[in-house]
Amino acid sequence: MHDLTPKRSELDPIEIASIDEIRSLQLERLRWSLRHAYDNVEMYRARFDALGVHPEDLTQLSDLAKFPFTTKGDLREAYPFGMFAVPRGQILRVHASSGTTGKPTVVGYTQKDIDNWADLMARSLRASGLRRGDMVHNAYGYGLFTGGLGAHYGIERLGATVVPMSGGQTEKQVALIEDFRPDGIMVTPSYMLNILEQYHRMGFDPRGSSLKVGVFGAEPWTDAMRREVEAAFDMHAVDIYGLSEIMGPGVANECVETKDGPVIWEDHFLPEIIDPETGAVLPDGELGELVITTLTKEGLPMVRYRTRDLTRLLPGTARSMRRMAKITGRSDDMIILRGVNVFPSQIEEQVLQVPGLAPYYQIELVTVGRMDAMRVHVELLPAAVASGQSEGHNQACKAQLAKRIKDIVGISAEVSVGEPGSVERSQGKARRVVDAREKG
Ligand code: DLL
Repeated sequence: MHDLTPKRSELDPIEIASIDEIRSLQLERLRWSLRHAYDNVEMYRARFDALGVHPEDLTQLSDLAKFPFTTKGDLREAYPFGMFAVPRGQILRVHASSGTTGKPTVVGYTQKDIDNWADLMARSLRASGLRRGDMVHNAYGYGLFTGGLGAHYGIERLGATVVPMSGGQTEKQVALIEDFRPDGIMVTPSYMLNILEQYHRMGFDPRGSSLKVGVFGAEPWTDAMRREVEAAFDMHAVDIYGLSEIMGPGVANECVETKDGPVIWEDHFLPEIIDPETGAVLPDGELGELVITTLTKEGLPMVRYRTRDLTRLLPGTARSMRRMAKITGRSDDMIILRGVNVFPSQIEEQVLQVPGLAPYYQIELVTVGRMDAMRVHVELLPAAVASGQSEGHNQACKAQLAKRIKDIVGISAEVSVGEPGSVERSQGKARRVVDAREKG
């Protein structure tokens, strides 16, 4: 793999500024942001007043804990534009994220918000090892989803060539990568596996591709998956984090030289970790729910937004700003099976440890008798089938995976090992869990 470490002179000075400088910028911006939210969004004014807090009460960063949280439900109630802090005429673009239930949440950006977003995406790409003059294949979906356009503007801002492919049409994705020879790819990790499979189908060698780095996010993925994709394509795989309510992709991004968790761009976002049950702020290093306050957003300022993502805050390494640990899961995705908490990522780690199994998996929750049970659907690698050993191999893989899940994750799961292609393929964000339990 190439050494893609950017030069220090190429970084934005604030990325490597002193902690004091970063904290004082945050304090100044936080005061502005709280004031902006209070003055221009009815919901914030009513909430702050009800709690008896005022933007002027914030004299140090830790005072933020006195302010109320904001949730996805608040955005839904304000559907579509009720939480915008500027007149609609100043909103240049909207995006929306489709919830599984109810109305989507709508987010809006002023010209300055779009500019900041492009800058932060360009910074994220630079951290990933890309630079001016490179070519980037963008397979994040274009449209209401923030992935496609967010990445697009950042690639252009970096001064790189964007291939605005969007998601889907996997065969065409591979043909364009082979023909255009891009340096980087931006796509969900699960869809990258789909592209990998298409490479084999079309008889191309993925390790011979031009790709030097993949910038993967929009869904949880494990370090085991990183190793799998890096080995398959002989390229770096870095983690990009973001969410539409806060901005979109580029809230945090991993540095290619360390790959030790996404660096949160703290000049624009103030992270906190809270205990999801009590709401209490936890010290850095402890696992909890990530809460983010925007520091510069004009169109849709967010005060203490509860992301539902579970992670921990870690000290800076390649940059002065703090990192977040790779997300273990969302509190919404946590499966509670007979009293044990399980995240799909824990199952993913085990699937990737079993030789002979392909990296595709789906978890099905079912009711057996009156008990909840978990089925893990996986499939054999095509090579195992071609060698004519599939039956014995199937049994061995099944036993090995069930044992690993039992010993390491601590639950009994029924494993079903199918033929290659039997597990549902991702077209963007993978559907890891199918809940077929009887309700009631
Ligand atoms: O997924 C924005 C995005 C696009 C991020 C492209 C990265 C790349 P939403 O659709 O609003 O926005 O979904 C946000 O996706 O709260 C996390 O649960 C999850 N997520 C995003 N990035 C990661 C990541 C985009 N790197 C939700 N690791 C977030 C784990 C992630 N989960």
